[in-house]
Amino acid sequence: MKLLITGGAGFIGSNFTEYILKNRPAYKVTVLDAMTYASNPETIKKFRLSRNFRFIKADIRDFGRVKKAVNGADLVVNFAAESHVDRSITGPSAFVETNVLGCQNMLEAARLSGVKKFVQISTDEVYGSVEKGRSREGDMLDPTSPYSSSKAAADLVAVSYFKTYGFPVIITRSSNNYGPYQHPEKFIPLFITNSIQGEPLPLYGDGRNVRNWIYVEDNCSGIDTALHKGVPGNIYNIGGDTEESNIKLARIIVRETGSNEGLIRFVKDRPAHDRRYALDSSKLKKLGWKPKFNFEDGLELTIDWYRQNQAWWKRLKGRGFKAYYSRHYKKQGRL
Ligand code: NAD
Ligand code: DAU
Repeated sequence: MKLLITGGAGFIGSNFTEYILKNRPAYKVTVLDAMTYASNPETIKKFRLSRNFRFIKADIRDFGRVKKAVNGADLVVNFAAESHVDRSITGPSAFVETNVLGCQNMLEAARLSGVKKFVQISTDEVYGSVEKGRSREGDMLDPTSPYSSSKAAADLVAVSYFKTYGFPVIITRSSNNYGPYQHPEKFIPLFITNSIQGEPLPLYGDGRNVRNWIYVEDNCSGIDTALHKGVPGNIYNIGGDTEESNIKLARIIVRETGSNEGLIRFVKDRPAHDRRYALDSSKLKKLGWKPKFNFEDGLELTIDWYRQNQAWWKRLKGRGFKAYYSRHYKKQGRL
């Protein structure tokens, strides 16, 4: 099988690439990635040792490049996206361009070259905030940020490719991932690395927003299940078992890193900050998937990884990140 993975130099895409190279040794894997600020060349270095791995630096907004890369692939998994909600609030255009138009380029190229299965990686954020209960795949979409609305738009385009052309699309919607190789702009790695560096921990609003956390390897096994056992035209939620408020999680990270609660700062909230996400994943569980990692073990593995791989995240916390951090947290009056 020839599998094309876009966004494979980012957080979940690289964990998925590792998962496939390990668990499906007969697969030939091509990663296509534009290597934006969110990627790290160090992340994919180890894959280059495998004879089953190939890398293409290309942008999914470029149809010509995408068409060439997709040619000959049996399976496609489209992770490539602009992924950070805060950045979508100050710069929404890139989100629509990559997440909507880029996705449509991928679908069109894959349809024209006869790809057998196409998985579009989506998010629980498309359902919007859920005060009670858990989101199911048929629920109404109610996205609130430019990021989540671009992901919802991509989902609708992907479904239209199934309905209109019979193209075998599957969508997975996962909850918040955590684990190795996540960019330090995101909550868990930001709080771990700032704790290690003795820097303030900026908690938005009252800190009581709740996220449904899943260890990244469990999401990878869920995507693998959807790819191989999922029915075309279907959507599958992939949620973890843990719901946690940001404030509780911040305190756990402070304790586990041996840092200091005095570093936690309540700062100006994110606009349209969704209060709670929670997924019902029973549809995917019926295909035999279940998460392996409990939250305590997953978080310990994650903290250990960030302790032991400081060069990896310090590279991402370099000059470009400092400018973003200063704009987002300092100039916007958060820190
Ligand atoms: P990430 O930001 O860590 O990685 C995104 C990758 O895509 C990067 O390597 C980047 O270089 C690449 N990329 C960006 N724009 C591109 C373009 N135009 N062309 C080619 N490559 C491009 O993101 P992530 O957290 O790994 O998320 C991966 C996917 O999973 C996204 O589609 C995201 O919406 C979805 N998702 C993420 C989470 C989460 O908790 N992180 C949860 C649910 C869904
Ligand atoms: O739910 C899935 C989504 O999870 C994915 O689709 C997105 O790609 C991914 O980035 C993530 O979005 P969130 O907005 O939930 O993740 P983030 O890590 O940015 O924030 C998690 C929570 O922590 C959220 O309630 C906002 C809060 N937060 C975040 C940051 C960066 C803070 O309190 N302070 C911060 O500095």
